[in-house]
Amino acid sequence: MAFESYRDFLDHLEREGELIRIPEPVATELEITEISEREMAEPGGGKALLFEKPTVNGRVSPFPVAINTMGSARRMAMVLGKATVDEAAEELGTLMKAKPPMNAGEALRLAGTALNLRHVKPGKVSKGACKDVVIRMDHPEKSIPSDESGPTGLPTLLNLPILQCWPQDGGRFITLPCVVTQDPDNGDVNLGMYRIQILDSTTTGMHWQLQKVAARHGRRYYETGTRMPVAIFLGGDPVYPFSATAPLPDGLNEFLLAGFLRKKSVPMVKCETSDLLVPANADFVIEGYVDPTEALIDEGPFGDHTGFYTPVDKYPAFHVTAITHRRDAVYPATIVGKPPKEDFYMGTASVKLFMPIFQMNFPEIVDIALPAEGVFHNLVFVSIRKTYPYQAYKIMYGLWGMGQMMFTKYIVVVDSDVDVHNTSDVLFRWMSNTDPSRDIIITRGPADVLDHATPQVGHGSKMGIDATSKLPSEGHPRPWPPIIEMDDSVRDRMDDLWNRIRNRGER
Ligand SMILES: Cc1cc2nc3c(=O)[nH]c(=O)nc-3n(C[C@H](O)[C@H](O)[C@H](O)COP(=O)(O)O)c2cc1C
Repeated sequence: MAFESYRDFLDHLEREGELIRIPEPVATELEITEISEREMAEPGGGKALLFEKPTVNGRVSPFPVAINTMGSARRMAMVLGKATVDEAAEELGTLMKAKPPMNAGEALRLAGTALNLRHVKPGKVSKGACKDVVIRMDHPEKSIPSDESGPTGLPTLLNLPILQCWPQDGGRFITLPCVVTQDPDNGDVNLGMYRIQILDSTTTGMHWQLQKVAARHGRRYYETGTRMPVAIFLGGDPVYPFSATAPLPDGLNEFLLAGFLRKKSVPMVKCETSDLLVPANADFVIEGYVDPTEALIDEGPFGDHTGFYTPVDKYPAFHVTAITHRRDAVYPATIVGKPPKEDFYMGTASVKLFMPIFQMNFPEIVDIALPAEGVFHNLVFVSIRKTYPYQAYKIMYGLWGMGQMMFTKYIVVVDSDVDVHNTSDVLFRWMSNTDPSRDIIITRGPADVLDHATPQVGHGSKMGIDATSKLPSEGHPRPWPPIIEMDDSVRDRMDDLWNRIRNRGER
């Protein structure tokens, strides 16, 4: 299902009972965080919130703030246009596993998949709602003012309802930004989500981390000293911010994924002040550039996904040349912090969607979970169908070599019968199935730059735990004991009695 704006998505959430409107004025400085954090702590992630009168320095902003819009399994499925995230994953999996059809049924299924693919390629359009209002910093005379905001044209960055999330944050941060960059060598487009710190009315920080695709693009511009065009957009179809966070391989355009998921090609329109293309139905577009001849600036501190503040570090400055927006724009935001927060549901959906890719590389993988406590990169549980010695180690090394899985600090590999989404079950196997000196490896590799525990930024040590049942050839000469389980026949026989006992209230 394609949403034509963030408001369109919010209307859908409201119809589905997934949205709470907050008509009272609430400050973008810390107060929206406090309310949102309470809502996110509700079972299953709570509801989406729409702050209708967010205030910026005490003045009500013309733009409402939407938050926690993707913060539950159900809402995440709605973003993907399906009843469940698993359904979306299954569809993407069918595409990846497509083989030549052997019969009419298979041919029909493949044709259905091919039909879905016609939406994948973004289309170019000449105008879009994202340009209802145009504010040109470089040529103010070319601005198209909004009715309400007067001839000088609002907003600047300083009067958008951008949150200061946490008390020790270095200022206001755009927390759901979709950042578009282009590889100067081959024109490949990348869409990533990198937080944006507001420094003044036309300058921001650009927090693309060392190992991210836009940072690689940036390095090429730094090598040639050429000005790097960058476009940041917000809103539109919620599948855009989701796709921006998806760990696609470098070179694969995230707008292809967005088109596939929304079943409608993403309509792209040229920026006012660069040749970059952005979705015509975005709510806000902030155009500008990074100047490689400038020194890096101080970015942060910021209350991060990790649950801790990340300290000030050096990042490029981004200079705004234009802001354009829909007349009825909604400002989408999130907060990150001690887990679980909204990003947990986004990350979980990503892992499910990309499971077929993991399984194509490692057919023995049954399931993967990134428990909330591990804030994405700290902890991965993976279950495998083990058929040969040291297979768990192959999986650890394989995952550490796959894209952003390189950041994983701890990998625990368990047997196929373990539900990796049940942390208690995994801990039980980990504790009972391991002999530490034999079953744990410690190695080194790239680390999440947000990890404050590594002695150096961006690299550190990793631990792999083989919690599978051991084979004799893995240094376990003793017989491996069977796990205690009741016979199926007894279980089935007792179902009826058990239900009667429960219904009598005897438990
Ligand atoms: C809410 C949210 C905020 C994020 N902020 C950042 C950030 O500031 N910097 C960063 O490098 N990655 C950040 N990420 C992670 C990236 O969006 C993610 O790694 C993405 O795959 C990067 O895209 P790329 O591989 O195209 O570079 C954030 C993710 C989420 C969900």
